[in-house]
Amino acid sequence: KSSLSSAAAQNRVLFGTAFCTSDLLSQPLTRAILYNCSVVTPEYELKWDAICREHGLPEYSAADELVSFASRNALAVHGHTLWWHESIPAFLQAGTVDQFRDAALNHLKTTVTRYAGQVHSWDVVNEPLEPADGRTDGLRLTPFLAAFGPDYIATAFHQASLLDPKAILVLNEMGLEYASPAAERKRRQMLALLEREKAKGSPISCLGIQSHLTALEQPRDHPELRAFLREIRAMGLSVMITEMDVSDHLCPRDRRRRDAIVAETYRSYLDLVFEEAEVIAVSTWGLTDDRTWLNGFRPRPDGARQRPLLFDRAVRRKPAWHAVQDALLNG
Ligand code: G3I
Repeated sequence: KSSLSSAAAQNRVLFGTAFCTSDLLSQPLTRAILYNCSVVTPEYELKWDAICREHGLPEYSAADELVSFASRNALAVHGHTLWWHESIPAFLQAGTVDQFRDAALNHLKTTVTRYAGQVHSWDVVNEPLEPADGRTDGLRLTPFLAAFGPDYIATAFHQASLLDPKAILVLNEMGLEYASPAAERKRRQMLALLEREKAKGSPISCLGIQSHLTALEQPRDHPELRAFLREIRAMGLSVMITEMDVSDHLCPRDRRRRDAIVAETYRSYLDLVFEEAEVIAVSTWGLTDDRTWLNGFRPRPDGARQRPLLFDRAVRRKPAWHAVQDALLNG
């Protein structure tokens, strides 16, 4: 039985998933990860609020456990994520701007230094854009912007590059793949942001496209996404699909039909991305349906559990597994 990582390797692409320490307690799931993945992303343990839960000393033991599991099993680690407005430690939210600035820099330097040489790539900054926040540059109004100004992105990337010159440094964003006027605006703002960062010499070498797709909403073909990916490639940037899953909340309840629609969504999306971008890794956000975050975020109206991933809860391959394998082989 071929594995997804061997299918991906035929096109010099890594295939992986997000995982967390509790996943390592399940032998079938760990086996599926080891057999199918060549890269793994800690879903939570490398986030700032997971490391700095209380004031004082950072706690890296959970992250260390995942990173050493990966390196023992020759899996690349995708570090997620250094600066993200949704993972700022609670005790800092009440502090001064100066305290925040020092803490943010200290966290980035300490973390990148700790794992230098062990992390294949870093989501250095996650979700920097929010057009609805009203800035002409589309930057989201976050404590990072307030503390450092618009140069916070260049600051983060320069520091990370200094401390781990070998790591691939990724700017990760959600919603770039959607088909809507707001998504098109976000794509335009992302291109302008990347041009500005390039002009500043920011060592961004890869764009992370989260790819949280919705079945029956994600168009089979998507000319605006194609054009965007072509411009990314023309800028000399590679692409990582960092958090791919397919929400089935709009699909009929019937399991076979749902699984087929989800599989087709994966297939057509990956075919398009491989045609237009220099892809270095494809990761799903979890491997088995029972691991998905989507039941909370996008509950199905009929109350049925979501089936968004490549394996079912019994760690059996689904049609989506075969669809992704086909796309990786033909990538
Ligand atoms: O493990 C702790 C537990 O010890 C503690 O008692 C409990 C209560 O505070 O929290 C537990 O941590 C939770 C963690 O998931 C692990 O399960 C956090 O509360 C919870 O906020 C965290 O949610 C994660 C979320 O990001 C925020 O970090 C989700 O699992 C994860 O799927 C989600 O992933 C994000 C990406 O990072 C960025 N893109 C969107 C994506 C989906 O929201």
